[in-house]
Amino acid sequence: MSEHASGKDGWGSKLGLILAMAGNAVGLGNFWKFPYMAAGNGGGAFMIPYFIALLLLGFPIMVMEWQTGRFGGEHDENTLGAMVYLQARQGLKPKTALAIGSISGGLCFAITLLINSYYTHIVGWTLNYSVMSFAGDYMDHSINTGELFVGMISSPTRVFLFWIIVLIMLAYAVSRGISGGIEKWAKVMMPALYLFAIILVVAAFTTGSPVNPDWSALKGLNYVWNPDFSKLTWGGTMAACGQIFFSLSIGMGLICHYASYLKKEDDVVISSVSTVALNEFAEIVLAASIVIPIGYAYLGQEVLENAGPSLTFITLPNAFRDMPLGQLFGGLWFVLLFFAGFTSSMALYSYVTTFLSEIARISKKKASWIIMGCFLIVGFPVAFETILNKVGNTFYLDELDLWIGQYFLLILGLIEVIVFTRCMPREQQYRINEGALKKLPKPFFNVLLRYVTPLMLIVVLIAATIERINSGAMALIPGGFAEDGSLADPMRVLWVNLARVVMIAIFVAATIITRNYVKHRYGDELAANAPVKE
Ligand code: PHE
Repeated sequence: MSEHASGKDGWGSKLGLILAMAGNAVGLGNFWKFPYMAAGNGGGAFMIPYFIALLLLGFPIMVMEWQTGRFGGEHDENTLGAMVYLQARQGLKPKTALAIGSISGGLCFAITLLINSYYTHIVGWTLNYSVMSFAGDYMDHSINTGELFVGMISSPTRVFLFWIIVLIMLAYAVSRGISGGIEKWAKVMMPALYLFAIILVVAAFTTGSPVNPDWSALKGLNYVWNPDFSKLTWGGTMAACGQIFFSLSIGMGLICHYASYLKKEDDVVISSVSTVALNEFAEIVLAASIVIPIGYAYLGQEVLENAGPSLTFITLPNAFRDMPLGQLFGGLWFVLLFFAGFTSSMALYSYVTTFLSEIARISKKKASWIIMGCFLIVGFPVAFETILNKVGNTFYLDELDLWIGQYFLLILGLIEVIVFTRCMPREQQYRINEGALKKLPKPFFNVLLRYVTPLMLIVVLIAATIERINSGAMALIPGGFAEDGSLADPMRVLWVNLARVVMIAIFVAATIITRNYVKHRYGDELAANAPVKE
């Protein structure tokens, strides 16, 4: 019997739960993605849509997901497909609910499995860079940090060594269960992460103007916190909404998964507020006050704005090597990234493991090691591509991230909100307030969650779809044809389409498996096919 079905596993303490949830949300998205996104989209101008999305999308979905998880846990369910089914069948015929639940479960599994197939690699890179930083590998000015990075991701030994270390650590942590594994690791890594971040903020603030009198840490801060409205763009707005989803780990069933191990009387309102607060503190206070001031003071605004995804691994080492104690600060920075990434990866890993343990009815311990084998397979193309091309191309990874990490989350978030607000009676929705010290007011339910959040999500999804069509992201032959009629970039066509086939195949398979699982668990309701009142 799976561990959850015996009802034994759960969070050991409130503090442990909050740290694990913060660990789930605070990840590479906060420290690696956010700074380059903000810098690349006008700094302060990016923060305007960012805050709007946080209030209108991020917070309401976070609370709703906590409640969905607690509700699922009451029914002994720890994965999203069955939870969505149980909610949808309150207002719809169970057979219709089954279809919606299966698609949600399929999406959720595809998202968690495939994000982690590349996320674990990036976590491996951060570990690799921690070692390199403490060893002083980029301190010498003759070293080109771009070549150093490409060298790392092209080296089979280094890529596989660090990736496999990460996978073994994940399998071990998750195999120990919720309180004995995930919670214990989060309790060590999260406080350390905040401590390192604060040390780095102090280092950043005391930087001054070491290179150019026009560049300073303070100007960097001004750049993020002083919005220049002329830089507000549609693309930046989309990016801000996507960032809120990715960074808070919402729209992927992960919050629901962790929350399914709650006790009935736990307060989901205050817990959601703490998760959002800890995540935003890490993102807009700490990450923004480390990367942007350091980058601005040592490298200037232009370099910062144009760095993109290479900001952390390629651009920042150029700043660390000029900093007093740079070897130490660089090392701390990459260990911080490692902790952030690892604790998020645990949530993804735990989800996939739980899914397997439920459908195959095996223990989590066993499932966790089997899943390691699965990751070795699904994550292989990510490594294989960079090792083969040796110039740092990551078409496969980028294609996965483009759809799974930025688009599917919005679709799944929308399905969740619609099911929650349209299929369940109001009393069920108001259960968010059950056990809450500070209850959410009625307009939260009747205006925000019911209308504003889904409408805004629909608008964002339509805009994102149009943007994708216009930018050629959906083209079957990315890069197009050369003048002589041959493919302009054959390897890109190959990797991008391989990623698409993998995404579709995993989504379809997981949808079918979820359907069978829910059918097996709720056969009686499905046979009667009449809405079920809770
Ligand atoms: N929210 C985490 C981050 O900011 C990452 C994450 C993304 C975790 C997707 C799970 C799923 O990096």
